[in-house]
Amino acid sequence: MRISRRSAIAGAFGAGVTLLCAGAWAANRGTIGAAAAHDGRFFGCAGQIDEWNAEGDLRDALLAETDYLVPEVELKWAAIEPVRGQVSFKELDGFMNFARRNRKKVRGHTLLWHDSVPDWAQARLRDTGDWSAIAEYFAAVIPRYGGIIDQWDVVNEPIDTGHRADGLRENVFLEVFGPDYVARALAQARALAPDAKLMLNEYGLEYDLPEERDRRYLLLKLLERLRNEGAPLDGLGIQSHLDLRKGYISQNSVAAFLKAVADLGLFIVVTELDVKESDYTAPVDQRDRFVADEVRRYLETVLEQRAVTGVVTWGLCDRHSWLKVTPEDYARFPGAWLHGGGPGLNRGLPLNAAMERKPMYFTIKDQLSSH
Ligand code: XIL
Repeated sequence: MRISRRSAIAGAFGAGVTLLCAGAWAANRGTIGAAAAHDGRFFGCAGQIDEWNAEGDLRDALLAETDYLVPEVELKWAAIEPVRGQVSFKELDGFMNFARRNRKKVRGHTLLWHDSVPDWAQARLRDTGDWSAIAEYFAAVIPRYGGIIDQWDVVNEPIDTGHRADGLRENVFLEVFGPDYVARALAQARALAPDAKLMLNEYGLEYDLPEERDRRYLLLKLLERLRNEGAPLDGLGIQSHLDLRKGYISQNSVAAFLKAVADLGLFIVVTELDVKESDYTAPVDQRDRFVADEVRRYLETVLEQRAVTGVVTWGLCDRHSWLKVTPEDYARFPGAWLHGGGPGLNRGLPLNAAMERKPMYFTIKDQLSSH
């Protein structure tokens, strides 16, 4: 077994609990977390521990606002063992120590994701046809932090449209183990985390586009199949990367989809909420309004569904976002920034880069308060 087990962490986690206080962040104006809690829901955000360690203002804000933290990269397989035999839990242990010290829960994101399987593991899976590489990774990571991680994204993005009738993405797991790999991964996770909630997590479910209609349909079929087979599946994560280039979200389709998921007895979490902008030439306050309006349209539908237990944003402030403004984005506005400057960063998260609350912040808070 390549990844050493719990022993390494015992010391690190033995230390006493010191609570960091939320410093300068003005919690007396109420927080999103408090708004969520009034009705038994939670709020969380993703991010990277090195950024949180380096930036006190961001740390203050997220400690005040959230109940859950999500490792943006630290828990992914390729982050833990990028090269065979070179295992590093340094970043993830740092993340988990931070969560523990501050009494936050953590969503375990993510175990099997086609985009974060190290090359050596892909080769080993293909060469041997053997599940042991997955078994070792799960056994190393799942029990390591005990109950702080009470939700696991066991398989991330299992669906792909336009290929197979069963909708399963043609990834290395499907190639080597066939369609049963999803149930097998869930069963293995259940054996290692008997009390945690086990989830699938999927993207691209919000808009009335043919591809997203297909994805909703295929995902539902997969969930139904897993439930019928008795697979240990508790919930569904809907990533919720909203995108203003796609038009408006389809409230009716989203509501019907969520109802069908809830009718299967599953709970639902908004796991990666953020907004990709469309018009970078608009004045900043208008851009922030477009973003917030889309979030309002989305959450007013999603939060009607009682099976939705929480909302997590993929980042908290515009200083760090995986949604970069790309050369393709620039190319859509020929001549727009001829005299220098530029659009700045994508503004798709609740706080701006100076850690000020934007309309999206108040929208999330209001929506959680009023549902
Ligand atoms: C992204 C991170 O934000 C990036 O920093 C990383 O380079 C790649 O992964 N859907 C997911 C997340 O489930 O894990 C992805 O996170 C964003 C899309």
